[in-house]
Formats: sequence, structure tokens, C-alpha cells
Amino acid sequence: MRKSILALASIAVLGLVGPAAAQSPIVIKFSHVVAENTPKGQAALKFKELAEKYTGGKVKVEVYPNSQLFGDAKEMEAVALGDVQFIAPSLSKFDKFTKKIQLFDLPFLFNDIDAVDRFQEGKAGQDLLKSMEAKNFLGLAYWHNGMKQISANKPLLVPEDAKGLKFRIQASDILAAQFQQLGAVPQKLAFSEVYQALQVGTVDGQENTWSNIFSQKFYEVQKDITESNHGVIDYMVVVNAKWWNGLPKDLQDDLKKAMDEATKVNNEIANKLNEEAKQKIQASGASKIHQLSAEQRAKWVEAMKPVWAKFEGAIGKDLIDAAVASNKSN
Ligand code: SIN
Repeated sequence: MRKSILALASIAVLGLVGPAAAQSPIVIKFSHVVAENTPKGQAALKFKELAEKYTGGKVKVEVYPNSQLFGDAKEMEAVALGDVQFIAPSLSKFDKFTKKIQLFDLPFLFNDIDAVDRFQEGKAGQDLLKSMEAKNFLGLAYWHNGMKQISANKPLLVPEDAKGLKFRIQASDILAAQFQQLGAVPQKLAFSEVYQALQVGTVDGQENTWSNIFSQKFYEVQKDITESNHGVIDYMVVVNAKWWNGLPKDLQDDLKKAMDEATKVNNEIANKLNEEAKQKIQASGASKIHQLSAEQRAKWVEAMKPVWAKFEGAIGKDLIDAAVASNKSN
């Protein structure tokens, strides 16, 4: 009798029985660096809603936007340590884990976001989701943001206009090479530090999507933005592979379903949010938006093209070819 009472007591202490234990959900922390009124901000909230619904409350998702919990410098490490379960860094930020994903940083690689989508959905794109498993990171999905625009406090109409200027870049060697190719000076900076760096003039310019330029108010401290569409900012939703593989199968399935639907929502709203952000910037009058003529655009393509050859060995020609092929819709 005494033995069974003791056994029951220790089970309760371990939290294996009792109404409180049955109800306490698994807490999933989802950390990211952008504002809530962006494609990623909205998609993270959609994932929370659906994950809690599909798991019947077995998980509780806490979303931390705006580098509140972890910024660029620490978020991968936080996943590795289990301090956070979901992150969705820009593809440029996987530089130190694999050179293959740097493919997405090659300037003028994709004609538009539809081409990016075709590549990500194809075999080469899907394989990249698993390319960091040996380092214990697993990609569950790609989320679109959109095409990058370039800004400064002077019009950037031809590559020579960028010469000598200092540009903030994400932590990517390809992006560094892209600006060096223009005779400009790249400076790697965390996303949360960009506004201030532009404001005080530590850097002269930056490249980003309309939704990021608007939600971070970069347009208030940049007089000129060129609609260059010269590259892409997209995300990979990443989890700690060991943590994910240790989840019960039914929970994994529910979370995967929530992720697939949140991805669909993200990719449906990304273009619209970027277009709205562009209109708001235009309406603010704080920054002038410049369009490139075909001739001017050709000069940017030409000036940045040597970056491809420089990184072909590290990325792999097969991957670059697959990406180029995705520019053709069938
Ligand atoms: C993001 O969209 O997550 C940030 C991109 C950047 O660092 O510029």
C-alpha cells in the first residue's frame, strides 16, 4: 500500500498525471526580426492561429516580432540551444551554415517572385530545405517577401551612382561582393540597427523590399529609392531538427498542416503588402521613387554579373542553372 502511494506521488511530481499536467500545452516560441504588418509578420501570426487550432490546444505558439527576443546575431544559436523553436531568417543569413543557399543572393538571378516560387517548389529548392540537417537545422518551408529595391540619399540610376557610397547589407559574402563590384563599400549590419545607421549616416544606403522599407521607416531617412528589383528577400522557416524529429507524429502532422497553410497565406499576401507599402511611401512624399529605363537596367545587370562567376564554385553550377531555368514558365 505504502509503495503504491509513493509511486503515485512520484508520478504526480514528474507531472505525468493530474488535470493541470493534462492541460499544460507545449510552448513553441517563434522569433523573427520584422514588423507584424509585413508578409512574415502576418504569416507567423497565421501559423500560431492554425497550429493552436489543429493541435486542439496541445501547443501554444508565442510569436516575438521585431527582434524582441532574438535579433539576427543570435537567432540561429537560439534554435540550436532550444531557447526558441521556430525562426524564419532571410535566406541571405544562412551564409555561415551553407554556401548553397547563397544562390538566392546572386544579383538579377530571378526575373520576379513567380520565378523564385517555381525554383523553391522544384526539386533543387526542396533539397535545399534539408541541406543543413547535418548541422541540426531543418527547413520546413519557404516564405516570400519580395524583390529588393536600392536606396540612398541621391538617385541611383546607373551603377556609377553607387560608387564610393557605404551600403548596409545582410550578413552575406555575395551581397558584399555585389557592392564591391560597384565600387561601393558594403557593411554587414543587423536588421534592427539599419534605421539608426541610415539616420546618423554610418551608412549611406541599403537594399530591401518595399514592405521592410516602409515598416522600418527607412524611407524617412533615404531621399531616393530605385525600383531595381535586383534581388530577392525570402525566408526559410527553420527548426531544430532533433527537437522536430522528437515530436510525436500526430503533432508533427498538425504543425506541418498549419505551416503549409500559413505558407500559402504568406505567399498570397506578400505581393499585395509590398505594393501597398510602395504606394504609402510614394504618398508620403518623404522619398522619391525612381524607375530604370531598359538601358539603365542593363548597365546594372552588366556591372553585377561578375559576382556569379566568383561564387559559382561554392554554390554549384547545377543549382544556378536550375534557378535560371525557373525564369521560364511552362
Ligand atoms: C527580414 O526581412 O527578415 C530582414 C531582412 C534584412 O535584414 O534586411
